[in-house]
Amino acid sequence: GAPVKVNVSKIEAGQQMVAEWRGQPVFIVRRTEEILSNLTKIESSVADPESAASVQPEYVDKKTRSIKPELLILVGLCTHLGCAPSFRPEVAPADLGPDWVGGYFCPCHGSRYDLAGRVYKAQPAPLNLPVPPHTYETDDVIIIG
Ligand code: FES
Repeated sequence: GAPVKVNVSKIEAGQQMVAEWRGQPVFIVRRTEEILSNLTKIESSVADPESAASVQPEYVDKKTRSIKPELLILVGLCTHLGCAPSFRPEVAPADLGPDWVGGYFCPCHGSRYDLAGRVYKAQPAPLNLPVPPHTYETDDVIIIG
């Protein structure tokens, strides 16, 4: 499939937009300083904190899983059986518990991911959400693919 050009300038801090690439949803999140600092706090809760077994291009940072820390780009398909996880950016909502610092929750079998797409330990999903190949054309325009 052809690369897809996405303008990310309208994504608010802490929010996501969903693009499409090769028929798959692509989640793009504008991460805040607070989100980034929460990622370091939950490193011991995620199964593959440095994405050793997970899928991402070589040029992304293994912990933030991004080129620029403020923009997270993920293929939005659960690594268990491919459902679309829900974006749940809130901290400690009643249904996800006190250690939830925002992330993605898969409604199919309950897999939990953080806001680097890293899967929590002991989930049905075995791996982090993949990061698709991407480049920056400008600060606001990303080419996916
Ligand atoms: Fe997501 Fe099973 S498909 S938990």
